[in-house]
Amino acid sequence: MKILGISCSPRKEKSTEYCLKKALLAAEKIDGIDTITYSLAQKNINGCIACDYCRSQLGCSQKDDFLNELLPILKDPQLKGILIATPVYFGSMSSQCKAFIDRMLPLRRNGFMLRNKVAGVLAVGGSRNGGQELTIQALHASLLIQDCIIVSDSSHFGSTCWERHPDGLENDTIGLETAANLGKKIAETILLLNKA
Ligand SMILES: Cc1cc2nc3c(=O)[nH]c(=O)nc-3n(C[C@H](O)[C@H](O)[C@H](O)COP(=O)(O)O)c2cc1C
Repeated sequence: MKILGISCSPRKEKSTEYCLKKALLAAEKIDGIDTITYSLAQKNINGCIACDYCRSQLGCSQKDDFLNELLPILKDPQLKGILIATPVYFGSMSSQCKAFIDRMLPLRRNGFMLRNKVAGVLAVGGSRNGGQELTIQALHASLLIQDCIIVSDSSHFGSTCWERHPDGLENDTIGLETAANLGKKIAETILLLNKA
């Protein structure tokens, strides 16, 4: 059973990916769970153009990295969970993240293929209170529209991390704990739902 962790920062191997990896590491500790890390940095993923191509087929008129790389991962029946990690941009998700969310429309239109996938959100901001929770909430709304099962970090809304912690991101112990707790919660909920 797999969890897709998606980093929605345009910057490769920076704070969003760092926090995501902490979350996925915790998820992998749970027996039976594998993870896939996918970074949107340097990928070519356009916004949805509402052409309605996906009304009649599970595909997309835009032949970019979403169609070629992400759609195959998302439609794999072994995929049971999704962890979306985004930097906070102006109190919300990055534009790369929004493009990814909108491009998942074919999965909804062709039998709600993300239904009952366990989903959680991690947001990294430059400020301690820079809009991480608002960003998480915005993404929760999108995931509800896909009929995902949303989980928290077992305590609040998801994972909230602080890139510019005075002692460095790696010392944002509270934030990184929320990341690990979110990864663990997604994995544990997948197991609960898939009990034999
Ligand atoms: C366009 C832009 C807008 C931003 N807006 C916010 C914001 O509203 N709140 C905040 O806390 N940080 C904000 N930041 C800072 C980023 O969220 C922060 O640097 C984040 O860690 C970047 O992730 P990355 O290192 O993975 O690229 C903004 C950064 C950019 C480039």
